[in-house]
Amino acid sequence: MIYLDNAATSWPKPERVYIAADKALREFSGNAGRSGHRLSMAAGRAIEETRLLLARLFNVPNPKNICFTLNATDALNLAIKGILRPGDHVIAGSMEHNSVARPLEALRAIGVECTKVNVLPAAGTEYTTEPNAVRNAIRSALRPNTKLAVFNHVSNVTGAENPIGEIGALCREQGIPLLVDAAQSAGTKPVDVQKLNIDLLAFPGHKGLFGPQGTGGLYIREGLILSPLREGGTGSRSEELTQPPSGPDRYESGTMNAAGIAALGEGVRFILEQGIEKIEEHEAALSSRLIRGLQEIPGIKIYGPPPGPHRSGVVSVTPENIECAEAELILDDSFGIAVRAGLHCAPDAHRLLGTLASGGTIRISIGYLNTEADIDNCIEALRSIVTDVTSGFLS
Ligand SMILES: Cc1ncc(COP(=O)(O)O)c(C=O)c1O
Repeated sequence: MIYLDNAATSWPKPERVYIAADKALREFSGNAGRSGHRLSMAAGRAIEETRLLLARLFNVPNPKNICFTLNATDALNLAIKGILRPGDHVIAGSMEHNSVARPLEALRAIGVECTKVNVLPAAGTEYTTEPNAVRNAIRSALRPNTKLAVFNHVSNVTGAENPIGEIGALCREQGIPLLVDAAQSAGTKPVDVQKLNIDLLAFPGHKGLFGPQGTGGLYIREGLILSPLREGGTGSRSEELTQPPSGPDRYESGTMNAAGIAALGEGVRFILEQGIEKIEEHEAALSSRLIRGLQEIPGIKIYGPPPGPHRSGVVSVTPENIECAEAELILDDSFGIAVRAGLHCAPDAHRLLGTLASGGTIRISIGYLNTEADIDNCIEALRSIVTDVTSGFLS
């Protein structure tokens, strides 16, 4: 199997991730933070170790400002619903995933207003998003009751990178917390919450960070206190009926996914050892190779920025002569290649790209463990499918 669906979830994982999950389940599956015995203490230590490694990766000054969540969606819901109240206004990017768009839509019912700022550049523009244009659009969207800005770092449909540094500087100047959806950049691009002025960083554990599904997290800048999504047992301040006032305990009620988090820690350790720049370079080289190869196939339209520093390993295409969903099935059945066809849970992005009504795109998403041979095989498979349809061999 050639796996090119890493934007959905990464596979395979580095071997040490599997070993860590197995070891955690067998050897230290006590309930972290609840008891004083060695199994509970070991589980607690594994969780704190992963927090430390994540803090190192994202340059978070205090690891206690990272809380674990189920996935990126859970982290985004916590950040959005933890801040916004009736009467508030929020500014969001125009290419957001439903994990942002749907919570914002749900909050509309209780009187939260949202302005979506266009981050899609004019066709043919070299930069993914012109920083000045986005800055100006944010400035004109600002209101006295604007309480949050939320933007993805990288689009899960086009692979386009948003100018988060510029957006962060503006938000900081205006005193508005910036929430960044790092679902497509955590573990694949440098993310420095201090340098980029990020107040809230939502990330999945199971994509670029190589952790298992069921892991993710939210960084919350020191001093920002959110309403928790759920209350419950934390193993701390148990005599009080109210939720702990701060720290990860405030947001981490219930038994933790210790084995998943321990395995995630090994994924992060692998990334730190490899170096994020090397990972970014490898994915950029493969995505350039993919785009150049696809450009030579007649009838394939490629979306997103050209090869270069402002894109990720996510490449979306539409073939002219075959439905995306059918091509996806043929790629799997006949070539053993896994990609994803459809809307990728981002209908707003497809509305802007003009691919909503036609059912979306084929998304080819590269991971650090992919090789040049994987890319060449995918290009040849798509060429063969498109040629067979044209010649009437496939109908
Ligand atoms: C940009 C973006 N945001 C959020 C998510 C949600 O991530 P998760 O599946 O971890 O909840 C995804 C998932 O594909 C994504 O691509």
